[in-house]
Amino acid sequence: MAVLITGIGELTTNDAELGKLRDAAVVIEGEAIAWVGAAADAPEADERVDVEGRAVLPGWVDSHTHLVFAGDRTAEFEARMAGKAYSAGGIAVTVDATRSASDEQLAANLRRHVDEAARQGTTCLETKTGYGLNVEDEARSARIAADVADEVTFLGAHLVPPGADAESYVDLVCGDMLDAVAPLVRWADVFCETGAFDEAQSGRVLKAARERGLGLRVHGNQLGEGPGVRLAVELGAASVDHCTYLSEADVEALAASDTVATLLPACDLSTRQPLAPARRLLDAGATVALASNANPGSSYTTSMAFCVTTAVLQMRMTIDEAVWSATAGGARALRRDDVGFVRPGARADLHVLEAPSTTHLAYRPGVPLTAGVWRRGRRLTSGFASKW
Ligand code: NIG
Repeated sequence: MAVLITGIGELTTNDAELGKLRDAAVVIEGEAIAWVGAAADAPEADERVDVEGRAVLPGWVDSHTHLVFAGDRTAEFEARMAGKAYSAGGIAVTVDATRSASDEQLAANLRRHVDEAARQGTTCLETKTGYGLNVEDEARSARIAADVADEVTFLGAHLVPPGADAESYVDLVCGDMLDAVAPLVRWADVFCETGAFDEAQSGRVLKAARERGLGLRVHGNQLGEGPGVRLAVELGAASVDHCTYLSEADVEALAASDTVATLLPACDLSTRQPLAPARRLLDAGATVALASNANPGSSYTTSMAFCVTTAVLQMRMTIDEAVWSATAGGARALRRDDVGFVRPGARADLHVLEAPSTTHLAYRPGVPLTAGVWRRGRRLTSGFASKW
């Protein structure tokens, strides 16, 4: 069945040839986009939806979340807002709660957050393991994630579990844990940071993952400058995430590489770090993605719109740059070309705004502007104030 979406006041395609269109229309057939062009030239379709001048853009591609978890860290957040510094040590609190939860509880919590994200326009979402930190719970987390998320990342190297010896734990991650999890995931990640895994340990994990055919991602340079970015670039990681503290050499290395710098502004704000240097990265020629880093500790939001607003108002990204980074940029960070774009052949993932242009995402900060969402060609309607 073909659905014609017409009356699009502003269509962000992210496609170099199609560009940004006014008075546009899109035809969806099944799960894919079949046609994009001027509303006046639109072909006939089985069903017609008029969005009455609203802006349409690709659904958000959230390339960094940690949503297989149980428990709550409100008290840690309150302490932080009262002046206590963020330390990744809180991960252990979530590990305890996650290990104690049933599969059903973990799956329900994951679905609840993914639905929450979808209602705000997120149509492609990556999520990570990393709150299991033993073979059984990491494999269980990966299985649960694979049922729900578009992309799954193994993050056994998130923290050395309290009481464990770091080198023995890295041996476990590189051996039995990877063996158990590799068939379930596409990506492997490591938290390369003081207090988590050092350069040598991170390199071992990434190389062991690469030997098993997994793509690489790195958590790097979140709490201070360090080797994360360099390691990610050297090993050809698809993305290095956080990038809050970057040296000039880091910026140059990213600019000269295919590794995407994924910035997580909601995390920087929630942990009271400076915001990542988006402008420096963009001006140097690096590819920048924006993601939510939704997790119960350092960034408990699924709102990609909040990240875009922050990137524009506080990180000096233009609106077009921020929207690209939260859609096509996320797709690049996940090495996908079927999402993040509105063009024939792409997945029919569309985000309709209760606004005439994407400018309103920054012009009207904090206002919920999602009017409607299509994901894989299916219109998600519950919870929207849609009248069309
Ligand atoms: O990306 N940096 C490491 N991991 C998460 C934090 C997870 C947590 O505090 O629970 C992050 O910020």
